[in-house]
Amino acid sequence: MPRRKVIIDCDPGQDDAVALFLAFAARDELDLLGVTTVAGNVPLALTQRNARMMCDIAGVADVPVHAGAAEPLELRLETAEAIHGKTGIDGVDVFEPRTPLASDDAVSFIVDTLLRSGPDSVTLVPTGPMTNIAAAIRQEPAILGSVREIVLMGGAMREGGNRSPSAEFNVLVDPHAAAIVFDCGRPVVAMGLDVTHQVLSTRERVARIQALDNPVARATAGMLGFFHRHDTEKYGSEGAPLHDPCTIAYLLAPGLFEGKLCNVTVETGSPLTRGHTAVDFWHVTDRPHNALWMHSVDADGFYELLTGRLARFG
Ligand code: BDR
Ligand code: CA
Repeated sequence: MPRRKVIIDCDPGQDDAVALFLAFAARDELDLLGVTTVAGNVPLALTQRNARMMCDIAGVADVPVHAGAAEPLELRLETAEAIHGKTGIDGVDVFEPRTPLASDDAVSFIVDTLLRSGPDSVTLVPTGPMTNIAAAIRQEPAILGSVREIVLMGGAMREGGNRSPSAEFNVLVDPHAAAIVFDCGRPVVAMGLDVTHQVLSTRERVARIQALDNPVARATAGMLGFFHRHDTEKYGSEGAPLHDPCTIAYLLAPGLFEGKLCNVTVETGSPLTRGHTAVDFWHVTDRPHNALWMHSVDADGFYELLTGRLARFG
């Protein structure tokens, strides 16, 4: 099987970091063309540094890391230190990574890479605000011909919002970008809170990862430990939802997930519900289907996949 060409666009973030680790553990299946970073959980200077740190920890030296947008398309940046800590990746000791920054123009990297690629050949994986992807589409709409699929973390329907009563963080921070991505005309797979809230990093699951006792597993367990403390209190659940790795898990084992083709329209205007994803789950409008809205996941299977892949770093 040829490896699937992938660009990961992220804002690490502990869960983005684990998504990177899962992708780094699957180089036999994923051809990682690059990692692009965006301001989101923390400002851009930290998200690009954090992505480079994850390359160092995983011993990955051949995947370029680019820095992208420092601000959403139209709004002022809102960050999430209250959840992710000041560094964005609290739970690991921060260091200055050896992995260099390949450029500070992630949008041009995305545009150039897609223009050079064949039709339907590259999968985009946004796990933060979708500013870089939307800016690339705006700059050069012809890139869409090379997009095979966009597998994103964002949105919420049944679960309600996690950052406002009606909006999920990634969409809330840059709703204009999310609207461009959902309406871009290419296949979109959306991992919203409805599904990510099912993959809880319980103590037992984190302990199994910790027991792998390799550098990536230790970093993962450290970060999930931090995440766990905050979200367990917030949701009263058994562990924190591991949002972003759902995207990479889907690329590796799509059968773990179930979804339904729907129309997803993003609210960009209303101050009350800005960033809300109106998911037409029961097809009550004639708006065209633009996304595969994921609603169920085999959570044990997800953690088996994650733990098994992280064991590879031993
Ligand atoms: C999303 O927001 C961020 O806090 C996480 O990294 C994830 O991408 C969940 O709403
Ligand atoms: Ca994220």
